[in-house]
Amino acid sequence: MRKVKTAVFPVGGLGTRFLPATKSMPKEMLPIANKPIIQYAYEEARDAGIEKFVFVTGRNKNAINNHFDHAYELESKLDEKNKSQELGQVMGWLPDAGQIAFVRQQKPLGLGHAIWCARNFIAKDEAFVVILADEMMMQSPNRKRNFLGEMIDLYQNKEDISSIVAVDEIDMKDTNKYGIIKVEGAEKIIDMVEKPKTEVAPSNLAITGRYILQPEIFEYLEKFEIGSGGEIQLTDAMKSMCKTHPFYCKKIDEVRFDCGNVLGYLEANIAFALANGAIESDVKKILKKYSN
Ligand code: G1P
Repeated sequence: MRKVKTAVFPVGGLGTRFLPATKSMPKEMLPIANKPIIQYAYEEARDAGIEKFVFVTGRNKNAINNHFDHAYELESKLDEKNKSQELGQVMGWLPDAGQIAFVRQQKPLGLGHAIWCARNFIAKDEAFVVILADEMMMQSPNRKRNFLGEMIDLYQNKEDISSIVAVDEIDMKDTNKYGIIKVEGAEKIIDMVEKPKTEVAPSNLAITGRYILQPEIFEYLEKFEIGSGGEIQLTDAMKSMCKTHPFYCKKIDEVRFDCGNVLGYLEANIAFALANGAIESDVKKILKKYSN
């Protein structure tokens, strides 16, 4: 069985779409209900079978490191007071020692550069996962294996050694916010372009923050080509690589929230709050109160 055991989380971005909230706080630490965005992403990876977690961070991101560490004072106080539920929320989900690494992206040169910064932590003969935490998915309750897990299954069951990219159908007017792919048949990616204008977009299939990549991607990333927005783009590296290496797409079949913008973030908060049985009816009352 081909192994996929490592996930890379690029979390060094400046969060400029979320100012002033992200002036001194990482956008990945913004909560959806009571849990920070990055913890959802970590749990999704863990539930899909990932065992090594590499966070590519930057300045002002120490709150992320601390969130994945023990908080001794808090833990001992909760323990003293026999608050076992709260204790579980603080430390019950933590990765084991040695499962997690933090790499520093010293300059915010783009998503492609962030992934390249993780190269020394990726096995040469093993595909790895990339998760963009601000693209959130809500797993439907009757689903056993999450979407990322199904992506890994798809990769493992393919005859050829390939890369897999999650995509979602979007409104054509929004193509300039995403990487857009061109497909042949149902799932073979033959081209892609980062943030095209609607007039030149090859489809309405947007890349949505979950990738399984072969380590050869680093050969393309280290060309450091400057792309959309003056940044080194992962999409550009994949675009070159897909000419000679097979790339497939898998369409997202879950509810997805783009928490990188304020409206998507608010929607996720409402949806996750409504999915919590303990507060659902109160949340509905609040929504009603402000809907008239
Ligand atoms: C990044 C990727 C883009 C992808 C998007 C998904 O863009 O570069 O290809 O479609 O994430 O959210 P960003 O939103 O970081 O500008």
